Amino acid sequence: MTALALPNFIEGMTIRPRRLRRAAALRDLVAEHRVSPGDLVLPLFVKEGLTDPVPVASMPGVVQHTRDSLRKAAARAAEAGVGGLILFGIPAAKDAHGSGADDSDGVVQRSLRDLVSDVGDACVIVADLCLCEYTDHGHCGLLAPDGTVAEEATLDRYRSVAVSQAAAGAHVIAPSGMMDGQVGAIRDALDLAGLTGTAILAYSAKYASAFYGPFRQAAESAPAFGDRSAYQQSPANSDEALREVELDLAEGADAVMVKPALGYLDVVRRVADAVRVPVAVYQVSGEYAMVEAAAARGWLDRRRAIAESLLSIRRAGADLVLTYWAVEAAEELLR
Ligand code: PBG
Repeated sequence: MTALALPNFIEGMTIRPRRLRRAAALRDLVAEHRVSPGDLVLPLFVKEGLTDPVPVASMPGVVQHTRDSLRKAAARAAEAGVGGLILFGIPAAKDAHGSGADDSDGVVQRSLRDLVSDVGDACVIVADLCLCEYTDHGHCGLLAPDGTVAEEATLDRYRSVAVSQAAAGAHVIAPSGMMDGQVGAIRDALDLAGLTGTAILAYSAKYASAFYGPFRQAAESAPAFGDRSAYQQSPANSDEALREVELDLAEGADAVMVKPALGYLDVVRRVADAVRVPVAVYQVSGEYAMVEAAAARGWLDRRRAIAESLLSIRRAGADLVLTYWAVEAAEELLR
């Protein structure tokens, strides 16, 4: 603050901030923030029963993987130095209970075992924990007869899913359903099962955002009716995000997440200032799609837009960034 208050002229000496911007090497030397491959987490989709990878129309460059193509993508990410992978599964069959989510032979459990054995020493393997990819109605929990989410019954499902994902080798469980008490329930279940070393990355401040649209195509998880406003946060609030973060930490979260990124960098800064645990930020599908779509029309310099957005997220206070551009960033943009 005092620096801002300085006059630009002190006893005959002119202050010239541009001196430090004159050359690339100088700018690089005085850079306050950087993004490194090891800070990045790559989201991956695996779908049961596929024989070939299926492109996601609204996310050019992103596919629903087969079990095999997933292994190849993970190996490439590990080779590039990407710090972590977060896995989303799409089962062949869905039902009201999301039965596929905690099947020890389910699509995610099998692929978690693959990834942990292939690249588990180089990359942190994260399992997203939610029911929306597994329920036929597409909501993140079980439904009561009136169509609202039945929270206690949902937490029981989350407990079971967490244990099955951790038993399959996931290093980190990331609950994204925004149910009250989900972190405590999962921690409890993991500990009871003897899985005390499995960490929890809580999607703490997850907003009810229009920017998840393309993801729902990729994960086939759009709600069949209604929306998620009764469990995800309102974009109008940021104090509420701090309350969510506090609760998750009290319940045993090892790291917290803010999501989406770009419209919520004020929330990222507030959270980063408030906590002493790692802060993750999810650069979501709609952020990816916006840049890709504009760049495809020649309206944006794609590489610069990607690098700038990642740097902005780090500058706001993120320790790690979940991004669909993780591999490209690690291989090319950050070198
Ligand atoms: C599942 C989940 C969602 C995302 C991550 N986990 C979608 C949603 O809440 O509908 C969104 C990620 C993205 O848009 O990239 N609950």
